[in-house]
Amino acid sequence: MDRDLAIIILAAGKGKRMKSSLPKVLHPIAGRPMLGYVLDLVRELRPRFGICVLGYRSEMVREYIRKEQANVRVVIQKRLLGSADAVKQARALLKNFKGTVLVLYGDAPLLNIQTVRRLIRHHKRSDASATLLVSVVNKPEGYGRILRDSSYNIVRIVEDDQANDYEREIKEINTGVSCYKKENLFLALNRVRLNPKKKEYYLTDVIHILYKQNHLIESIRLEDSQEALGINTQIDLFNSERIMQKRLLTALMERGVRIVDVESIRVCWDTQIQAGSVVFPFTVIESNVKIGKDCRIGPFCHLREGAVINDRSVVGNFAEVCRSKIGSDTKVKHFCYLGDSRIGKGVNIGAGTVTANFDGKKKAITVIKDKAFIGSDTVLVAPVRVGSQSKTGAGSVVTKNKNVPAKATVAGVPARPFRNRNR
Ligand code: UD1
Ligand code: CA
Repeated sequence: MDRDLAIIILAAGKGKRMKSSLPKVLHPIAGRPMLGYVLDLVRELRPRFGICVLGYRSEMVREYIRKEQANVRVVIQKRLLGSADAVKQARALLKNFKGTVLVLYGDAPLLNIQTVRRLIRHHKRSDASATLLVSVVNKPEGYGRILRDSSYNIVRIVEDDQANDYEREIKEINTGVSCYKKENLFLALNRVRLNPKKKEYYLTDVIHILYKQNHLIESIRLEDSQEALGINTQIDLFNSERIMQKRLLTALMERGVRIVDVESIRVCWDTQIQAGSVVFPFTVIESNVKIGKDCRIGPFCHLREGAVINDRSVVGNFAEVCRSKIGSDTKVKHFCYLGDSRIGKGVNIGAGTVTANFDGKKKAITVIKDKAFIGSDTVLVAPVRVGSQSKTGAGSVVTKNKNVPAKATVAGVPARPFRNRNR
């Protein structure tokens, strides 16, 4: 544990610019609420205090934090009076704490842990009162701009809506990620004045207050400006999704997975795929999906929550798999729906196979044992079991609880044991 470190995550805002009723920090990126990525940083840094400031729909966000089992205490900002006011809500919890306070924004999920470590290291070594993570970007619109004096010292941060024409041209921006000496931060916060136009207290005003008191203000610059992306709008959300997908797909490729097309394949933050597998274009993989080694997935395949595909299996065109386990060496090559099913090894699922898992009230399970051969256009009405090495004829409808014994062949509507007349 880093006993000298306290982290405050600001996550109280509604996110007006998202134009959505969902709290901004719960909007998903690669299938996970964006706040989750920020909570990961806290998990890795192991601070003495982790504090998350909540406000808008705080119960909903608190519930998510509980689910993540994140090691943070929640404090509530009752009225959303700006980022300075949000930080103040952590004062009581930090009463006896001395050391470094790191402020993270809940709407900046692309930040890498290495960058945060570099910031903390620089802050401690330089013994500054405040250290900012800054970035140089082509489009600084929306961000606070860094103003420096002739000796290159940081003088203040000017928020976008306060900036004059000259300041608006400045390309060096505040990412929001910052370190402070605890006492200096809270003393300066007391002096922050209400911004008359926005009716908010800006945390960034702390910088000019410290400057006037001759405190040392340091900064480090981001190498990759994408990391600083703050999500304020649906367009920002889309851009961050793209960056996150690229990162996740790159990590999979580094592990030996063949990704045929990074533009059209979508994975989730927790997608597991073993080396030697290939994912073809237009494949969408939702949360909690595991794929073994040497599998072929797609093109145009939808793997939903809880799909597990074992080694050397093929899930091909227009197949949707949901809450289902598929054994090794099984083929699901052409359009079909498999839901709530347990499928064995070496099974062949014919084109157009459907597990009818929902009767309008509840979901039921389909079991297909090893080496079964499911004929094209078979409907399996769950709950139902199909024995090992059995066969279903093309177009058959295996009705509820009419289990197919091992090695049997059934066919027709409803499916009945099939006898070959020529025998
Ligand atoms: C903020 C910074 C800006 C920086 C940018 C980086 C301020 C005043 N400005 O602007 O300098 O370039 O982030 O992305 O901080 N929040 C609360 N309570 C509040 C208001 C906000 O907890 O009353 C939280 C929000 O949930 C959010 C964060 O603070 O996570 C930042 O608020 P936001 O309104 O997004 O600030 P920006 O305009 O993006
Ligand atoms: Ca923001």
